[in-house]
Amino acid sequence: MSDCTSTQTSRRDFMRVAGTAAAAAATTRILAANSVYAAENGVLRVGLSGCGGRGTGAARQALMADPDTKLVALGDLFADKIDGALNNLKSYGPIADRVQVDDDHKFIGFDAYKKVIDSVDVLVMAETPAFRPMILRHAIEQGKHCFVEKPIAVDPSGVRSVLESCEMAKGKNLAVVSGLCYRYSFSKREILKRIHDGEIGDIIAMETKYNTGTPWQPKDRLPEWSDMEYQCRNWYFYDWLSGDFNVEQHIHSLDKLAWSMNDVTPVKVWANGGRAVRTAEKYGNIYDHFNAVYEYANGVRAYSSCRQWDNTDTDVNDHIMGTKGIAHLQDHKIEFRDGKTWQHEQKEKDDMYQNEHDAFFACIRKGEPINNGEYMCKSTMMGIAARMAAYTGRILTWDEVWNSPYSAMPEKLEFGPIALPALARPGETKLPFAAKA
Ligand SMILES: NC(=O)c1ccc[n+]([C@@H]2O[C@H](COP(=O)([O-])OP(=O)(O)OC[C@H]3O[C@@H](n4cnc5c(N)ncnc54)[C@H](O)[C@@H]3O)[C@@H](O)[C@H]2O)c1
Repeated sequence: MSDCTSTQTSRRDFMRVAGTAAAAAATTRILAANSVYAAENGVLRVGLSGCGGRGTGAARQALMADPDTKLVALGDLFADKIDGALNNLKSYGPIADRVQVDDDHKFIGFDAYKKVIDSVDVLVMAETPAFRPMILRHAIEQGKHCFVEKPIAVDPSGVRSVLESCEMAKGKNLAVVSGLCYRYSFSKREILKRIHDGEIGDIIAMETKYNTGTPWQPKDRLPEWSDMEYQCRNWYFYDWLSGDFNVEQHIHSLDKLAWSMNDVTPVKVWANGGRAVRTAEKYGNIYDHFNAVYEYANGVRAYSSCRQWDNTDTDVNDHIMGTKGIAHLQDHKIEFRDGKTWQHEQKEKDDMYQNEHDAFFACIRKGEPINNGEYMCKSTMMGIAARMAAYTGRILTWDEVWNSPYSAMPEKLEFGPIALPALARPGETKLPFAAKA
């Protein structure tokens, strides 16, 4: 990893960087340069956009990462989500006294993010994926460091917007840290280093699987909910909100393939998918299974499968096949063709969710903010490309997808009537692609 923690591996080292006087001085300088609300004493004010399960966890990890932080603002579409997150965070002893969100800093609605951003130095973004490009752009324009959950967008227009925002962040010395958390797992870093150092030889093929049951059931509709509220409360099941589950969840697997390939992107993708078991209307318009093949310019092919079928065999793993051996990423194990084996030994605590926040804050303090923009955009686009290939039944080039004008966002973001998004049918569904080069 090329960030300010790349020569360090442990949480102890992260904390040592964060705690130095030089770090505090650097932070004050950065804040003064970046934020109209520059803190005078080096305390970083943190805000959370999206107060669900992950947002609550990420806010906790942000405060745990750096003792000179306080949570000052929360934003969500719904008041009950804010209350839930706040109660949870206030009851967590090690950070409880730094959860300082007064009633004037609980913001609700589609523009809640603007008010959160106005109040903070650091934004933790864990809202529904569709809104992330818009919110990230505003945060960077306003000079805020961002932790950005995955996926970073649901369509090619969103990915390109995020990439632009990340470039803008570089110019402003702002951090953009990705929630693609495996990249911050010490054990994953070790096996990936071995792959990059050539221990398995040249990569010849890759296989990844994220085959599980359905992660949660849709919430029943309350009479007072508009169509928009119903879809936003059940965002996972609508492609315009989540990007479909192969983007929302399987992105972790695709990101591990991308990382193995040093983030070289594939040149072509084809895919199959559909709804075999989640066929009821309450499951919105996402599929329940995808199989995709990614082809790289050097001839490597990556075989990817994800499904969410209850009461079936589950399997989440990635296998990188090289001329000298096979790396099993989830097992942290390499089987060499000469019969030898390497197995990672867990020597220290390795909580990837905490590690990413430790690195985020340590590098802000050091004055060398991390920018994960490029890989989070490419990995998100791998999922989007497979979805677009499966929905249409087309064999797609990377460039057709990358430059596609497709945007899934509705024209108006307001609570009221909104159509049920159509279920894609390969051969009939049309999506806009860029012209083939
Ligand atoms: N890195 C990981 O391993 C990991 C794990 C779980 C979830 N996630 C990601 O975190 C995000 C949130 O997932 P979750 O499980 O917490 O879902 P969730 O439904 O529990 O929380 C999402 C919250 O965002 C709110 N929201 C939606 N649109 C918003 C907007 N425009 N502004 C402000 N708030 C808005 C929702 O009302 C909801 O409270 C997703 O992108 C998901 O993919 C990542």
